[in-house]
Amino acid sequence: MAVAPRESDATAAEKPRAPTQQSAPLVQAVAISKHFGEGETRVDALREVSIDVNPGEVVALLGPSGSGKTTLLNVIGCILDPSAGSLSLDGELVIENGRWLRGNLRQLRLEKIGFIFQFHNLIPFLDATDNVALVRQLAGADAAASRARAIELLDYLEVGHRRASMPAKLSGGEAQRVAIARALANRPRIILADEPTAALDSKRASIVMDLLRKVALEQQAAIIAVTHDDKIFDRFDRIYNLRDGRLDAVEAMPGIGGRRTGL
Ligand SMILES: Nc1ncnc2c1ncn2[C@@H]1O[C@H](COP(=O)(O)OP(=O)(O)O)[C@@H](O)[C@H]1O
Ligand SMILES: [Mg+2]
Repeated sequence: MAVAPRESDATAAEKPRAPTQQSAPLVQAVAISKHFGEGETRVDALREVSIDVNPGEVVALLGPSGSGKTTLLNVIGCILDPSAGSLSLDGELVIENGRWLRGNLRQLRLEKIGFIFQFHNLIPFLDATDNVALVRQLAGADAAASRARAIELLDYLEVGHRRASMPAKLSGGEAQRVAIARALANRPRIILADEPTAALDSKRASIVMDLLRKVALEQQAAIIAVTHDDKIFDRFDRIYNLRDGRLDAVEAMPGIGGRRTGL
């Protein structure tokens, strides 16, 4: 496969964890509801949505505009309060009956969750390395260790040759790979991606999705990605459809098993 890492990249990267026998979901959302506003202006963005994502799985979230996809990612990512429901992340119950059980959500996000957005959202005045290193430093690592981790990740995502480039000098695909490196900086087990390939052409979208699959498999991470791109559907283990705040269908993707071993 075109994006398979070279030997040297594999040794520079974090050692892949052995696949775990553990089958407990990394993300377990139970009957999450979220409404905005009250009375006539009330919008029910999520209606009793339940979703489990296991280590090593990549799932897609589909649905028309306004169906609640971003709201669901933001609740799972502990950015947004749900109105009701429960959420466990990496075995820790963090929301019970619509109430947070943890005070320090910022620390929780830094430890457990990596976000990737439609546009890379890199900080324009920091080079690629510092964009990634900053997230390590926010989690408490020192500057030198943070830069070393950043360079290792940029190599792993095959964009190490751009480590000193400013975001404006990167192509769309390179910038999105730097953004993925940033999302991985603190070794989160949960990665949430809101239309991560929407700004890329189909070849670069495939490369980015292949890299996300590699991350899921090697780091035993759970990935939820919002997408509209039917050319990359074969990269997902399961596809969920959101419609009007309801998660109404789950399609298992055939043929993924073979693809996995090819990575
Ligand atoms: N902060 C907000 N305040 C009020 N309504 C919101 C807010 N965020 C989202 N919504 C509404 O919730 C619904 C779901 O939005 P969203 O999750 O962004 O959908 P999607 O990502 O699928 O396009 C929409 O009707 C949207 O207008
Ligand atoms: Mg959205």
